[in-house]
Amino acid sequence: MSQPRIVHTRSDLQSAIAAFRKARERVALVPTMGALHEGHLALVRLACGKAERVVVSIFVNPTQFAPHEDFDKYPRTLDSDAEALAGENVDIIYAPGREEMYAADFSTRVLPDGGPAAGLESDARPHFFGGVATVVTKLLLQVRPDLAVFGEKDWQQLQVVKRMVRDLDIGVDIVPGPTVREKDGLALSSRNRYLEPKHREAAPALHRVLNESAVLISRGAPIAQVMTSARHEIEKAGFTVDYVEARHAETLAPVADAHHGPVRLLVAARIGGTRLIDNVPVPHGKD
Ligand code: PAJ
Repeated sequence: MSQPRIVHTRSDLQSAIAAFRKARERVALVPTMGALHEGHLALVRLACGKAERVVVSIFVNPTQFAPHEDFDKYPRTLDSDAEALAGENVDIIYAPGREEMYAADFSTRVLPDGGPAAGLESDARPHFFGGVATVVTKLLLQVRPDLAVFGEKDWQQLQVVKRMVRDLDIGVDIVPGPTVREKDGLALSSRNRYLEPKHREAAPALHRVLNESAVLISRGAPIAQVMTSARHEIEKAGFTVDYVEARHAETLAPVADAHHGPVRLLVAARIGGTRLIDNVPVPHGKD
């Protein structure tokens, strides 16, 4: 295992990748915004199992943040990220500066149009998937990997990226990685560090309520009723709910019952100024 090489420019990135291609090695990309935790590292390990060469990108993408959101406050921890990745089989850390990704006169945006991007995150953050689609397209074109790994933690993002890659014929395998959680069920997130102790204590309610709801739906309980009580339960734990919904797992269209599945339950809720998201599958079958 060797130290990953940190590159900041497209030209350094591309000459490293050209050498991999010449040796006919498969290349995997793991896009991140840094502040790496075990959830990210699990994606990196998945990538290492599927390709000879692994590139991890670290770029806090300004176009997916609205002006009032936490772009300036978002943690930037390249040194400790590089240290965390030194323990993994990563070849390249690609950490471009803002100008490397967005020229001063940059004037193009990749805009998901309906489909899995409609509703949910887009209601609260209308700019979000345009920013994600734009930067992910750029990263995929810069690296041209054989595969790219995305976490199920951001389920809607994963479906938006899959649809975009299909619609635009980008020609890369999108590989999903399971959500990594704390022992009490809270999904790991760079934003968990903002939670005050009492909110941290309340936070696992999100996952607990989703799981309980998923079991009820899988046993035939009416979706609308289950989701209404899920909302109440999450509010009771101290959250303000942006949405808690049952959707078709791939199209993210609303579903009337579990027979129109696969069904995924998705939540976004705020507690003490921190916005958390989570999702779980509804198990198939009766039990
Ligand atoms: P970021 O939030 O840094 O997440 C990078 C990747 O890690 C995403 O694919 C995300 O789904 C995954 N991830 C985060 N927490 C996880 C967890 N607990 N378990 C498993 N995977 C987890 O998502 C982004 O960055 C950006 O939108 C990006 C795709 C990089 C585009 O800017």
